[in-house]
Amino acid sequence: MIKLVDPQPRSARGLPSIRDFAAAKAAGRKIAVVTAYDAWSARLLATSPIDALLVGDSAMMVIHGERDTLGATVELMAMHTRAVARGAPETVIIADMPFLGVRQGIVHALDSAAQLLRAGAHAVKVEGARGHTDVIHHLVESGIPVMGHLGLTPQSVHQLGGYRVQGRDAIAAAQLREDAVALEAAGVFALVLECIPQALAGEVTAACRVPTIGIGAGPQCDGQVLVLQDLLGLSPQFHPRFARAFVDGAELVQRGATRFSTAVRDGTFPDTTETFQ
Ligand code: KIV
Repeated sequence: MIKLVDPQPRSARGLPSIRDFAAAKAAGRKIAVVTAYDAWSARLLATSPIDALLVGDSAMMVIHGERDTLGATVELMAMHTRAVARGAPETVIIADMPFLGVRQGIVHALDSAAQLLRAGAHAVKVEGARGHTDVIHHLVESGIPVMGHLGLTPQSVHQLGGYRVQGRDAIAAAQLREDAVALEAAGVFALVLECIPQALAGEVTAACRVPTIGIGAGPQCDGQVLVLQDLLGLSPQFHPRFARAFVDGAELVQRGATRFSTAVRDGTFPDTTETFQ
């Protein structure tokens, strides 16, 4: 059995804070973010040196088996957030605002963000910029930290024509640069850059005061985010170029389940130490 060791107890560092993001960029320290959707993985991740947990609406695809993220509702995101917060009460938690969460007016956006913060998030993530930087500004002014998200924004999958690299041509790259400036002006504390060419990500990273967190955006970003199941090698059928499997989790699951079934069938499980008298 793996013994979990917390190298630096987070309680010793005080409340989890999104201010750590700015401090990391200032110090030139890379930021590592990973998705979490449930209490047990959050509990394990809280013992690692991960900087923050993202309750992404990718939960719709990874956990619920859907083809896209559009089915996420604020109630569902709040449920996942509550579970993650129970598992990792001392880790920074960022929750995704669901599809159209900032496009139905300020009151709706405030109400959705409030539900996510009440569920235990310290910040919300909002995809895109055009047409809703005023709402983002209002959330920030209301004391709700917001993380931006540009490039491949999965909630716009139908408009983008699929999950493809963004910002390749000069016009798209210029738009993305403008959007990054607008989001920074609106007060985001960090900016996810998803699936864009590394040179563009490098430019945005150099131009922004807030840290950029890349996924498929190359090594020049101030940090990286990956979906937990991808980095654990638990989704072997889904292997996008940018997602490195750091361990072979699928093999571990198959090995564990095979050993269990073998032991059940050959009668070696349970043994006397696993049985009540
Ligand atoms: O929903 C998600 O998991 C995300 C990350 C991949 C950035 O938005």
